[in-house]
Formats: sequence, structure tokens, C-alpha cells
Amino acid sequence: MLALGCDHGGYRLKEIIKDYLDKKSIQYKDFGSFSEESVDYPEIAINLSEEVAKGNYDKGILCCGTGVGVSIASNKVKGIRAALVGDCFTAKATREHNDSNVLCLGGRVIGEELALMIIDIWLNTEFIGKHHTKRLDQIADYENK
Ligand code: RB5
Repeated sequence: MLALGCDHGGYRLKEIIKDYLDKKSIQYKDFGSFSEESVDYPEIAINLSEEVAKGNYDKGILCCGTGVGVSIASNKVKGIRAALVGDCFTAKATREHNDSNVLCLGGRVIGEELALMIIDIWLNTEFIGKHHTKRLDQIADYENK
């Protein structure tokens, strides 16, 4: 199950993503926000990320205007590896190398078609492990200090 979240800057993109996931019969929970009314993204991003970190959701997708605010907030949660992605190469690489568990997108930055292509790649690419595991362990060690 996926977790979706946004602020007002990412609301329209989140709704497009929901239509896409519905068509693909991919289940998700919407953590809000639920309109284009101005809201503060940290609470939404942190709430969603804590649920992903606890294992209650497989992965999360967060949208704000640039994707930057939600990625900063999400990465403060222990166990979260949030990736701000704006191209297909990074979508693939951040799953293969970083085992990213939250995808951040800029609703005011990327077009709908690119966003959906990124999501498709990100959801369908596996972590390749090997020497990348050691690097993720180094980040986890720092988090656990
Ligand atoms: C909201 O205006 C905007 O600051 C927010 O959506 C995001 O881009 C923050 O990084």
C-alpha cells in the first residue's frame, strides 16, 4: 500500500497521481492535504513518513511546489530515504542505489506525463543491494548514533 501526501503546491499533481493509481488498481492512502488552500507541508510530510518508517505503508509519494520542502522534512524521519526526482534516470537510480522509500515531486516544476513516468519507473525498480547496502548502513549508523 502506498502513502500519498501534498501541500497546496502539490495538490493538483497528487490528484493526477491518484487517477493514475486508480487506473492501475494500485492501492493508496491519501494523507492530505485535500484542497489548494495554503497549508504547512512539514506536518503532512512527517506524518506520512513516520507511517512509512513504521512499515505501515510500503512507500510514500509526496508533492509540494518544488518537492524540496517535503523532501527535507521527510528525510528528518529515521529510516526514511526520500528522493526528490525530476527525471527518469534518477527515478531508476534512486531505487537501485539508494533504496529510496519516499518519492518527492515538484507540482509546480514537472509536467504530468513526466511525473507519471517517474512514478511508474520508481514503483517498478528494485534495490540492487551489493556495495550500495554498505552505504545505506553507514547512513543508518549515523541515524542511530
Ligand atoms: C508553498 O508555497 C511552497 O513553498 C511549497 O509547496 C514547497 O515548494 C516548499 O518547498
